[in-house]
Amino acid sequence: TKLLDFACSEPPQNLSLWPCNGIILRKNREEGRFSAFPPERGIIVFRLIYPGSFDPPHKGHLDLIARASALADELIVAVLQNGDKAGKLSLETRCKLLKQVCAGYDNVRVRTFRGALADFFSEEKATALLRGLRSADDFGYELPMTVVNRGLKADCETLFLAASPEYSFISSSLVRELLRLQKDVSPYVPECIVPELEDLYQA
Ligand code: PNS
Repeated sequence: TKLLDFACSEPPQNLSLWPCNGIILRKNREEGRFSAFPPERGIIVFRLIYPGSFDPPHKGHLDLIARASALADELIVAVLQNGDKAGKLSLETRCKLLKQVCAGYDNVRVRTFRGALADFFSEEKATALLRGLRSADDFGYELPMTVVNRGLKADCETLFLAASPEYSFISSSLVRELLRLQKDVSPYVPECIVPELEDLYQA
């Protein structure tokens, strides 16, 4: 899928499809988002999958969800079922918290997956995976996964968004540490889930 060429002229307001430099642009009438597709692939939904452990979700995740939901037709936040990271929260709890975090975004769905992410990518007929980059360290972690995912499914591309600077130091493991120490996590966690998260760690 080619990226949009914003240099093309604006389409007539009453059209939602128009050709531009060999690709077709489609406009989402309600929200004004644009999608671009090579004509040979027909009109497909620009669907991103944002996978992760989300144990727990934090403001850095929400930053990416908000920005990606504005770019894509659909965003699937995919919660790993069988990860090997030592977190306290069950899969159900992580999904529940994420649904609260994503409640304001109409085109965002929360789903779970197990096994290979590349298989889930195909099942969902997604356009690309989405991951956030906070630092060069993240890049070192992400690059092998990106290559392996493409090795499993050639069309399983990964797109990256750089974390907004104010969230570039937040991680789930730091939030877990603060929760274990019974310290305030409200600077780092979306407001709507702070009380529930604190309760879960006090139990
Ligand atoms: O939030 P995280 O823990 O950094 O997310 C890691 C995640 C879920 C993206 C990654 O562990 C994953 O995709 N796991 C599923 C198994 C898989 O397909 N791994 C990629 C090929 S090595």
